[in-house]
Amino acid sequence: MDVETIDRVGVIGAGTMGSGIAQVAATHGYDVVMRDIEQEFVENGFETIDDSLGRLVSNETLTEDEAAAVRDRITGTTELEDLADCDLIVEAALEDLDIKRDIFGDLDEIAADDAVLATNTSTLSITSIAAATERPESIVGLHFMNPVPVMPGVEIVVGEQTNPELVDIAHEFAEDLGKTTWESDDKPGFVTNRILMPWINEGIRAFDEGVATKEDIDAGMELGTNVPMGPLTLADHIGLDICLHATETLHEELGDRYKPAYLLKRKVEAGELGKKTGSGFYEYE
Ligand code: 3HC
Repeated sequence: MDVETIDRVGVIGAGTMGSGIAQVAATHGYDVVMRDIEQEFVENGFETIDDSLGRLVSNETLTEDEAAAVRDRITGTTELEDLADCDLIVEAALEDLDIKRDIFGDLDEIAADDAVLATNTSTLSITSIAAATERPESIVGLHFMNPVPVMPGVEIVVGEQTNPELVDIAHEFAEDLGKTTWESDDKPGFVTNRILMPWINEGIRAFDEGVATKEDIDAGMELGTNVPMGPLTLADHIGLDICLHATETLHEELGDRYKPAYLLKRKVEAGELGKKTGSGFYEYE
């Protein structure tokens, strides 16, 4: 199999990442089936896509007709079986190992023998997800960055048993979506989150310990090191629940240097998850 034989792409999960992956794949000509467990979640995914396509039309990246064609190439469903004839399936469901292993166990039953099965996990082990199937060699990590339509890179994660040919296909597929790739071994947090999450966590600790106001912590990092978002704004953008989960996984696997900041746990407990709930470190409309 090579990337030329991929026509139909399945996406599991219509949240921020799943809907972004569906949109980008459809933008590059693939027929996409986007699946979530409830119709309401599928509809929310289409709203996110419409909003993003609207922005790309207003800044003249796409024409109205191109945006309409992208939308037409995406079908929504709540049935996993509707992904049976997909050549490549990307799972972007909740960051929960048991949920992902269940999904991959089910995919093993329904997906074509030569289908590429990818997970967008941000920190969980590809090898452990792959072990839920009878075909661990067919599983690879395709780790997209948020917001998927604008971020230029995709991390390819290689599990213990991933077939090297599949790794090549994963690179080619991501490049076909207009992304540049880099590769990581299946080690906790891969390249990006292993380095990004402690940076965010330390920003939260600095705020909690009264080093500076949240605005000054973000300004210090934005203006002082030329990153587009300081750690607290970026944490809100990613979602505090995702940051906490990733940091807990790193802490569990790599020890105390990754212990989540106390304030991060408290915010998640309070349901203040960042932009998506209207409040995190900052307030959003
Ligand atoms: N869809 C389409 N277009 C979008 C968009 C979206 N979802 N989000 C932003 N844009 C467009 C805007 O319309 C705007 O276009 P224009 O300049 O031509 O009008 C352009 O992108 C810039 O957006 P904004 O003016 O709203 O704001 P910024 O200049 O701050 O850019 C950003 C937004 C691209 C998100 C930038 O702030 C950024 O790069 N931030 C860092 C993001 C980051 O680090 N992401 C990775 C997180 S880690 C991760 O995802 C891994 C996971 O496992 C945790």
